[in-house]
Amino acid sequence: MEKKTSNFSGQLGFVLAAAGSAVGVGNLWRFPYLAAKDGGGLFLIIYLVLVLTFGFTLLTSDIAIGRKTQKSAIGAYEEMHPKWKFLGVLTFLVPVLIMTYYAVIGGWITKYACVYLTGQASSAAQDDYFTSFITSPVSPVVFGLLFMAVTAFIVYKGVEGGIEKVSKFMMPVLLVLVVIIAIYSLTLKHEDADGNVRTGLQGFLYYITPHFEGLTVERFLQILLDAMSQLFFSLSVSMGIMITYGSYVKPEVDLNKSVSQVEFFDTGVALLAGVMIIPAVFVFSGTDGMGVGPSLMFVSLPKVFDAMGPAGTVVGVLFFISAIFATLTSCISVLESIVANCMEIFHTDRKKTTLVLALIYLAASAVIALGYSVFYFNVTLPNGSSAQLLDIMDYVSNSVMMPLIALLSTILIGWVKSPKYVADEMERGGYKFRRKRMYYVMIRYVAPVMMLVLFLQSTGLLSM
Ligand code: PHE
Repeated sequence: MEKKTSNFSGQLGFVLAAAGSAVGVGNLWRFPYLAAKDGGGLFLIIYLVLVLTFGFTLLTSDIAIGRKTQKSAIGAYEEMHPKWKFLGVLTFLVPVLIMTYYAVIGGWITKYACVYLTGQASSAAQDDYFTSFITSPVSPVVFGLLFMAVTAFIVYKGVEGGIEKVSKFMMPVLLVLVVIIAIYSLTLKHEDADGNVRTGLQGFLYYITPHFEGLTVERFLQILLDAMSQLFFSLSVSMGIMITYGSYVKPEVDLNKSVSQVEFFDTGVALLAGVMIIPAVFVFSGTDGMGVGPSLMFVSLPKVFDAMGPAGTVVGVLFFISAIFATLTSCISVLESIVANCMEIFHTDRKKTTLVLALIYLAASAVIALGYSVFYFNVTLPNGSSAQLLDIMDYVSNSVMMPLIALLSTILIGWVKSPKYVADEMERGGYKFRRKRMYYVMIRYVAPVMMLVLFLQSTGLLSM
């Protein structure tokens, strides 16, 4: 086995870096939306069950494969089974695609952090503020390139000196910021024009109460699929990132503990994001005010912050700084997995590889950032939503490739190789592989079926 030259210093460094990858915009702008849409507490229960079963299975597999092979996706799958190298290549392509737009989103967030830092909370709350920003041919490009450059710089500095250092600072701070905003959100109270008073606590109850009204089998399945696709995007599995990060974990680290801690961190921040966002939106806009994705973060929330009065500027600053931390640590992991794969394929060193990739992705980010102005076009995706450049990249990587990769990898581990391959790695160093029996059942029977259904549904081949 080839000796790795770079590693995380220990368990904490690895867990925070992996949590840094896992906690991203998905936690902030998609989880709260899904929870509000999919029956509040009902969604939360389903999500938590999936975290402990399905998420656990995929995350365990990725990390164990990485540490066992000491390689990134392409090399790792090739080593597992030479005929399955194609799966490694497919997996490698996910971050390759995601990297084209993730820094652009990071740029948007950075722009908003600047807006709040310079006290322009009320301009950001204007109706067409976000649209006029992203359709401008200059500003989104500048911020996107800045974000990309910072990401590349950290990856250039290496695993321990770059990624781990940044994660060890940003992840704890992120957690504190999210807790502060969540507490503030719970204390909110507002009376609207009709004299209705709504409180943060009511919003919180709306969030955690399971709503069973109108629950049909179809709706239940829809919630299940929503939770599932959210979960594996959120855990950064099935895209090779956790394989790469796993390959930097020292042999004496207990992977069982690490997997649980990463899941705990990621789910904790998602739950807290709900406490931070749902009550605030509820107090100022009622239950219909929840948007998703960019429209939640850049349109609805700025209105909510504006309605908070002077405090809104402070909350806005804290929120967008935490969003920068969440996005930057994810963006780093995406670039790192591309760099790591390329270093293995081309036998180049980190610095040169990072520099070349940085140049390529600076250009790609600029193109994507211009997808709302110079390169604007519009297509309808198989799932019915309308999309431009960024959405297309997002759709192909998350809705088509990731479920397919997860499906193929469960077949490879469960049937072609053996779950023992992963179990042995989890037990290395004499540790006990907790939930081992469940892992076997999940990887062989449950996960492949679930992934197949998700793949068919998200590609539009199966409609519900
Ligand atoms: N897991 C991150 C989130 O929840 C997103 C992400 C996607 C991170 C792709 C890395 C790569 O938002």
